[in-house]
Amino acid sequence: MKTGIANSESFDNWVPNRRIKWQFDIYLVGSCPSCPVGNLSEAKTPEKYMRPELLERIIRKAKSECRLTEINLYNWTEPFLHPNLSEMIRIVRSHKVPCGLSTNLNLLNDIDDVMAANPDMLKVSLSGFSQKIYGRTHRKGDIELVKRNMAEVARAKERAGVTTRLVVAYHRYLGNHQDEATMQAYAESLGFKMEPAWAFFMPLEKMLAFAGSDMIDAAINTEDRQIIDLLALPLADALAAAQSAPQQSCPLRARQMAITASGEVTLCCASFDQSKFVIGPYLGTPIDELQKLKYRHEVCGSCMDNGLHVLFTYNCDIFDDIALANVARHYPDAALTRVKPLKIPRPHGIHALPFKMKREVKRLLNQLGANI
Ligand SMILES: C[S@@+](CC[C@H](N)C(=O)[O-])C[C@H]1O[C@@H](n2cnc3c(N)ncnc32)[C@H](O)[C@@H]1O
Ligand code: SF4
Repeated sequence: MKTGIANSESFDNWVPNRRIKWQFDIYLVGSCPSCPVGNLSEAKTPEKYMRPELLERIIRKAKSECRLTEINLYNWTEPFLHPNLSEMIRIVRSHKVPCGLSTNLNLLNDIDDVMAANPDMLKVSLSGFSQKIYGRTHRKGDIELVKRNMAEVARAKERAGVTTRLVVAYHRYLGNHQDEATMQAYAESLGFKMEPAWAFFMPLEKMLAFAGSDMIDAAINTEDRQIIDLLALPLADALAAAQSAPQQSCPLRARQMAITASGEVTLCCASFDQSKFVIGPYLGTPIDELQKLKYRHEVCGSCMDNGLHVLFTYNCDIFDDIALANVARHYPDAALTRVKPLKIPRPHGIHALPFKMKREVKRLLNQLGANI
């Protein structure tokens, strides 16, 4: 029997609480033409750019109904495609909410304005130092351009005199470990912190197909298979481990709000096709109502049955061991470090318990007259 599953979760057990921490993931752009992987690029993405007024209203509403701890301005898109990126960052920061950007940095617009807006974090996603290695998994990307842009970002940060944390997310695949040390030296020379991550296969739709679920109309094609075969954390083994992990709720559903450029909430940041996963407009729908709709979504059951939510949040102790052993099998001389856990607000205390257990704890505490 699978144990990484918590699909018995129902909204009856959702606990409205304004003090719990929320992270918002906002699509600044409707579609992402520059995404070098883009394995579902034909999926529908409605409005082109999020308007600054919409962002302002979203944040005001969020602050009125939850404890907003972070806003990330990218989700599945490329922040530098937005024509008013610096204004969007300023809006977030004017509310004293940390603002994160993640970019493939094949494009760099208005970098002085962007850095002057002082985003709390700017992460560059890449997977190699040489074009030969990088180009395997960032297919349309140009690593020489990325490296020049990294230097440009570092200079703009210095000119602006700001505190932005510069990070390189080095996606680890089989065979790109040779470039990791070179990239680390280059990144650190510019003031970037290297944060390697085991590359995963996304989005939710494709992962459901990989796991054998027919809930969504998606299929694994030859290109997908090539990427899957390159993963340092082997997908089938990771899935088996996720399915055997302790039962857990899904932080992407409980603590994150993914909002499209037109202001629609989608089921979670792991799902890509906005036409299939829209829950409702963020403005005009109370957060508890949105949560109710998310918790009733039929796809979550299938996702959790297959342990995908554990995989998406890297919440399994043995992923590192599996990946390191796989790399060592292929490249005995590779000496890779463990990766840092993902920073996602996770349910804690009673909220982290599987629902049946939570219900029982609440019942017992109620019997004792405790207030939770
Ligand atoms: C889908 S990307 C979109 C944002 C932006 N275009 C970028 O490339 O960083 C969102 C986040 O997912 C991470 N990501 C993307 N592909 C990944 C992969 N194959 N494995 C691990 N993380 C990945 C990126 O580092 C980024 O922080
Ligand atoms: S579909 Fe998304 S929200 Fe639902 S369980 Fe899976 S990862 Fe969580």
